[in-house]
Amino acid sequence: MTSQRSDTVVVWDWLVRVFHGAVLVLFALAYGVENDWPVVHAYIGYTLLLLIVFRLLWGFIGTSYARFSKFLTGPGQILHYLRGIARGPVHRYIGHNPAGGWMIVALLLSLLTTALLGIALFALEGSGPLAAVDVSNWPGPLLAQLHSLSADGIMALIVLHVGGVLLSSYRHRENLIMAMVSGRKAVDDNVRVLPLISWQRWWVGASLLVTILGFGLWGIFIQGRADFSDTSTELAGAEDYLEECGACHLAYPPGLLPAASWAQLLAGLEDHFGDNAELDSETIQVLARYLRGGALSPGQPSHSSRLLRNMPDPPPLRISELPQFQIDHRALFTAPDAQPSASQCAKCHRRAVTGDFTLL
Ligand code: HEC
Ligand code: HEC
Repeated sequence: MTSQRSDTVVVWDWLVRVFHGAVLVLFALAYGVENDWPVVHAYIGYTLLLLIVFRLLWGFIGTSYARFSKFLTGPGQILHYLRGIARGPVHRYIGHNPAGGWMIVALLLSLLTTALLGIALFALEGSGPLAAVDVSNWPGPLLAQLHSLSADGIMALIVLHVGGVLLSSYRHRENLIMAMVSGRKAVDDNVRVLPLISWQRWWVGASLLVTILGFGLWGIFIQGRADFSDTSTELAGAEDYLEECGACHLAYPPGLLPAASWAQLLAGLEDHFGDNAELDSETIQVLARYLRGGALSPGQPSHSSRLLRNMPDPPPLRISELPQFQIDHRALFTAPDAQPSASQCAKCHRRAVTGDFTLL
């Protein structure tokens, strides 16, 4: 036989393919749910971080086409390849082509950066793996901006990546998307098939990947259940709270202030921001239990967990004095006679009664 594409060989081993599929699905999910499902979002972030660690390792000990040494080339080869593919037929690589190889590295690094920035943001809320770290000097707004900027950067890289895959599929008359699903590519029969790796390496790679995916599923489906249960309406005392504390203003959802602030407020109702809001001690006890149960707390991620960022100690009595609140509303309440006042959440957040402040 002459050099015809008659045979197919496995180019992408199953670990690479499962990794690729998992990153695709998880990133899309994390991008989509953002603040709506904070716990799910966090666990997807951790899982992506661990998957990147797996892929970096597999890039050194994995099968030949998965290795960085196999597909990372110098700038000369990248330029040569890009110039070639723009014009027409070009040398066909069985594994990643020089441009595709560096795209993989760019994607891995930007995913890594985004996940680490997410963990830093979590630390500002007093939760996540860095919860115990002193974050008082961390630039919260900058980190938040960088986190969403790098997530958008990944999106842009994905568009380029898919564009590149489609272009080289077209130039080489082959379906590279299917190749990443089946793992197989056609080879000229004079291509040397590369040696297999030892079973020990398979064992290390496979057990690592399976463990990471197991962790991810546990995080999303077991830990993430908190995202779907609305604790504040389940807690006893919700009706009393609406009646007593919703008389003059929005009955602020308990998740907007830490337990210490609520306790302070209840202790000083006879002079409540200039008003008398006194209640009998029995009602106060019911309200105290209700507010404590749903209070803003690092252990209870919720829609408003971001309000925990840079929380002073002791915390303020007003939601509108929380540092993150002031950042979110920076442009709105600078004038002393701003209308409506910051306390009138529902004037702007029309779903405020339900505890949802993401919509205006
Ligand atoms: C008699 C009317 C009245 C009642 C009853 C009342 N409040 Fe208030 N509350 C006020 C006023 C007035 C303010 C100040 C509003 C402003 O500055 O715009 C306020 C402000 C607040 C704020 C600060 C809002 C901000 O600016 O972030 C919180 C929190 C609060 N109240 C909680 C409660 C709780 C909890 C209860 C029930 C125990 C309660 N209030 C009952 C009148 C009342
Ligand atoms: C004058 C209008 C206005 C008032 C009053 C107001 N907000 Fe906002 N709020 C906004 C705007 C505008 C944003 C920014 C929305 C954005 O960036 O998507 C925002 C953002 C937020 C966010 C961040 C949402 C997110 O997750 O992106 C929270 C939480 C929030 N507000 C809570 C409150 C609470 C609690 C009150 C009452 C104590 C309040 N707001 C009063 C206009 C207002």
